[in-house]
Amino acid sequence: MSPGTPTENTPNDDTPSAHTLVIIPTYNERENIELIIGRLHTAVPGAHVLVADDGSPDGTGDIADKLAASDPAGRIHVLHRTEKNGLGAAYIAGFRWGLDRDYRVLVEMDADGSHAPEQLHRLLDQIDQGADLVAGSRYVPGGSVVNWPKRREFLSRGGNLYSRLALGVTIKDITGGFRAYRREVLEALDLDSIESHGYCFQVDLAWRSLQQGFTMVEVPITFTEREFGESKMDGNIVQEALLKVTVWGMRSRWNKVRALLRK
Ligand code: GDD
Ligand code: MN
Repeated sequence: MSPGTPTENTPNDDTPSAHTLVIIPTYNERENIELIIGRLHTAVPGAHVLVADDGSPDGTGDIADKLAASDPAGRIHVLHRTEKNGLGAAYIAGFRWGLDRDYRVLVEMDADGSHAPEQLHRLLDQIDQGADLVAGSRYVPGGSVVNWPKRREFLSRGGNLYSRLALGVTIKDITGGFRAYRREVLEALDLDSIESHGYCFQVDLAWRSLQQGFTMVEVPITFTEREFGESKMDGNIVQEALLKVTVWGMRSRWNKVRALLRK
């Protein structure tokens, strides 16, 4: 085999996954940030990281700066944002940063260890095989949730079931936040028009991508509840998701009815 010939699971420079940016949004993740980046670079040494920090009072942003300065390979980058503006806004800023550079795959991953960097290759392999958007999924065969309180799992399963019914999609885990996007997907979405703040941001992005005709593939992951720090989930986030998903679903059904009436 000549040098540079692609082999399975060894990305060479031609595979999209050889140009991956992992965006990690952070708000008060000081116990987690070094650990998660270390695990990521052990698992996928070539991946670049962008920490999108919303001015964490606990100093997460400073820790990220030190990690960036001490990585000789220059793989760690930090985006300092001044206000806590929710997960969605942090990701959009991160996507823009990545799209301004020549990354070909943009990954969403939590800082708290819930998404195992050791399983990232499952997502990247699918991208290299041609998928547009790959979602790490807790609710397909082989996927699981570890250490979640029953209440939280119930909410997540309920939210997914509701989204499936309201939007008429078959995705089992449309709220999950461990994803890989081919850059063309994000380039095609109108990022400016995305208003979702909390977890419905994930539904929003998946829904827009599917409507644009992109392929979304689910791969099983093990989601493990954080050991350190706290979840930022609250009642407003649930309410926002419920309301928005209902509106999107109704709008899409209404558009279908209108199209039928016009025939
Ligand atoms: N920059 C920034 N700003 N980061 C934030 C903010 C914010 O306002 N809110 C949360 N984050 C970061 C956290 O620091 C963490 O790295 C990541 O976003 C996820 O936040 P968690 O608070 O740990 O979320 P979770 O565990 O409740 O929810 C996870 O599961 C949901 C599905 O059930 C996330 O993966 C969600 O994306 C997902 O929808
Ligand atoms: Mn979490």
